[in-house]
Amino acid sequence: MSRLDSFIRRMTSQKILLEYLVEKVNQVDGPVLELGLGNGRTYDHLREIYPEKEIFVFDFAMNCHPSCAPDADHMILGDIRDTLAFCEPRVGAKASFAHIDIGSADPTNDLAIVHWLAPLLNERMAVGGFVLTALKLELSNFETLDKPEGIHPGRYHIYRKVSET
Ligand SMILES: C[S@@+](CC[C@H](N)C(=O)[O-])C[C@H]1O[C@@H](n2cnc3c(N)ncnc32)[C@H](O)[C@@H]1O
Repeated sequence: MSRLDSFIRRMTSQKILLEYLVEKVNQVDGPVLELGLGNGRTYDHLREIYPEKEIFVFDFAMNCHPSCAPDADHMILGDIRDTLAFCEPRVGAKASFAHIDIGSADPTNDLAIVHWLAPLLNERMAVGGFVLTALKLELSNFETLDKPEGIHPGRYHIYRKVSET
């Protein structure tokens, strides 16, 4: 498969999965966390599909297209490894949904990310809240949910927090 086809498939899956979760996420109280603003594509889509939810966005820097820049209160700048643990005074309630888009192309680096990210994420998620990520999280109090038909089995994962511990 060409890199163009692979990119299109990845973006299509991401959009399908983000939209697939909307009804479920809306049944849970709490804000949405976007880990990885990048150029703002998925943040812009989250704003469209979650008009009623507050969305907090995390990244080292704000380098997105100007049309989809989060306001200062909702853009949390810095290394997520530091900021996620200390965002509670700003974010408030635990999250109903986290979209994690910070994976690398390197499987060893991805394992290292999961190692620090998983416990921090657990702290910030509401019971019943959903996580969509390309990273394979190992959290015993989260269940792995089935994906809608047509999504490549290993490409994305949907998790739901079932209990506090
Ligand atoms: C693939 S891009 C996100 C793409 C974005 N979701 C979009 O649709 O445009 C990944 C982003 O995550 C950010 N990122 C990766 N690791 C991070 C970390 N530890 N702390 C803060 N930001 C991080 C990078 O700076 C980059 O902007």
